[in-house]
Amino acid sequence: MKIDLTKQFEEEYGTAPAKTYFTPGRVNLIGEHIDYNGGLVMPCAVTLGTWLCIAPNNDGVIRFKSLNFEEQQTFPLQSSYVKESNGWFYYPLGVFHEILKEKEIPAGLDLLFYGNIPIGSGLSSSASIEIVTAYALNEYFNLGYNRLQLVLIAKKVENEFIGLNSGIMDQFAVAFGEKHKALVLNCDTLDYKAVDCNLGNYALAIINTNKPRKLAESKYNERVTECQTALRELNTELDAANLCELDAAKFALYSRLITDPVVLKRATHVVEENDRVGLAADALSKGKLEEFGQLMYASHESLKTLYEVSGAELDAVVDFCQDYAYVIGARMTGAGFGGCAIALLEKGKEEEFTNALTAYYTAKIGYAPDVYFSEIGNGAAAI
Ligand code: GLA
Repeated sequence: MKIDLTKQFEEEYGTAPAKTYFTPGRVNLIGEHIDYNGGLVMPCAVTLGTWLCIAPNNDGVIRFKSLNFEEQQTFPLQSSYVKESNGWFYYPLGVFHEILKEKEIPAGLDLLFYGNIPIGSGLSSSASIEIVTAYALNEYFNLGYNRLQLVLIAKKVENEFIGLNSGIMDQFAVAFGEKHKALVLNCDTLDYKAVDCNLGNYALAIINTNKPRKLAESKYNERVTECQTALRELNTELDAANLCELDAAKFALYSRLITDPVVLKRATHVVEENDRVGLAADALSKGKLEEFGQLMYASHESLKTLYEVSGAELDAVVDFCQDYAYVIGARMTGAGFGGCAIALLEKGKEEEFTNALTAYYTAKIGYAPDVYFSEIGNGAAAI
């Protein structure tokens, strides 16, 4: 962290912080729009993230400040809160709201956040701020939650307080991430394995399309509803708890039950993508990176044509990668509708790739992307 957050805290609040915490963002290597369908995903934590300094106050209030946003807010410490606008502070406030349903928070708190995850880029800046807040409250006030309980609290904040019907992947990844590991997470049972993510001679490039995201939340919720419709229709003859209980062979037998062709496309993506995650985990464990890369391309194609959550910007990045000799795989990552793509790029080609992609993308889309190279980092921690 280049910014001296301790000093900033002192400037803002006139006192030293009592503790500082960090929670990363994430990329998902493969398994997209799978978590809320109870299947397998493969995210990993990145080294970009959110830092939070806190100190108790005697004023019985919660003060939210951020170095990223001008807007700051103070709320009395009370038993519940309501989201009244789109202010950034509603993410951490939602965490207070959820925790206060079950636990007492014994003192007011001054908080200062700083994040270097580009906001709205699909790298889970919201899960990062939720988990860093939950982790800090839990640790500082000895609330007694375990990591998984903090993940479930943060997911509830997203679903009920913020209103996005997202799955558990983002909160889980940023809480449980491990350096140099990908998490193979079963979103139905919440069993997971941290597997070696040895990319050999390849670097993980993260390409932010910089597309302003509009209507992403309503389109996301629409996809969730379409999957629920597919499951309901399949369950007129089956008894499946979620779409990912069906493998491709079983789905082929029963897909006739889905009446709407659009819903059929969505469900087909889910079933095939879930199968791809198993294949990808196997390829990664055997060091078959080119096979892994091909699965990334197949995932993108499916998200583009069947799930329809890509777009001209993400497609431009992946199209470029497909023709670029030193990339072996690329796909959109996260919810889509803009946001980021990831690519496996031969090490040593970072600068050349960034320049060539930037020129191609700018000519096609009209503005430049941002390209980052991230290590796979650790999940939430006190620092
Ligand atoms: C967003 C959601 C996740 C997941 C992805 C798509 O990041 O928050 O729960 O559904 O989209 O895979």
